[in-house]
Amino acid sequence: MLKWDQKYSVNIDKFDRAHEELFALINDMSDTMTSDSDRDKMVADAKNLRRFLQIHFVREERLMADFEVINRDEHKNVHDGVYKRIEEALSRLRENKTGAMTEMVSFLKDWLPDHIVKMDMQYGRVVYARTANAPESQRIPTR
Ligand SMILES: [Fe+2]
Ligand SMILES: [Fe+2]
Repeated sequence: MLKWDQKYSVNIDKFDRAHEELFALINDMSDTMTSDSDRDKMVADAKNLRRFLQIHFVREERLMADFEVINRDEHKNVHDGVYKRIEEALSRLRENKTGAMTEMVSFLKDWLPDHIVKMDMQYGRVVYARTANAPESQRIPTR
C-alpha cells in the first residue's frame, strides 16, 4: 500500500497532489488484482493510469524545460521508458495475460516513490532555488 507523505514533497503543490493521486491509482489497481481479477476492470484501470501518467509526465517535462533543469533529457527518457512499459503491459493484458498487470503494478510500486525522491525532487529544488526570492506573483504555489 503506497501512502503519500511529506517526505515525498517536491515543494510544488500541484505535483505533490498528482503524485498522491498516482499512489491512489496504483493502490486501486493492486486491489482489483487481489480482489476480483476482473480483466475488463484491469484494462480500464491501466488505461486510466496511462492517461494520468502521460499528462503528469508532460507537465513535469514542460516545467523542466521552462526552468532549464539540467538533466531533463535523462528524466524524459525515464518517463518514456515507463510509459512504454505500461503500453506493453496493456497489450499483453488484452491477450488475456493478467500476469502482465501484476508485474506492472509491482514495478510501479517500487519505481514511483523512488523516482519522486531521486528525480522529481531535483526539479523541485531548481524551481525552489529560482523562485524563493521571486515576487509572490511569479511563484509556483507550494503547500
Ligand atoms: Fe512525478
Ligand atoms: Fe518525473
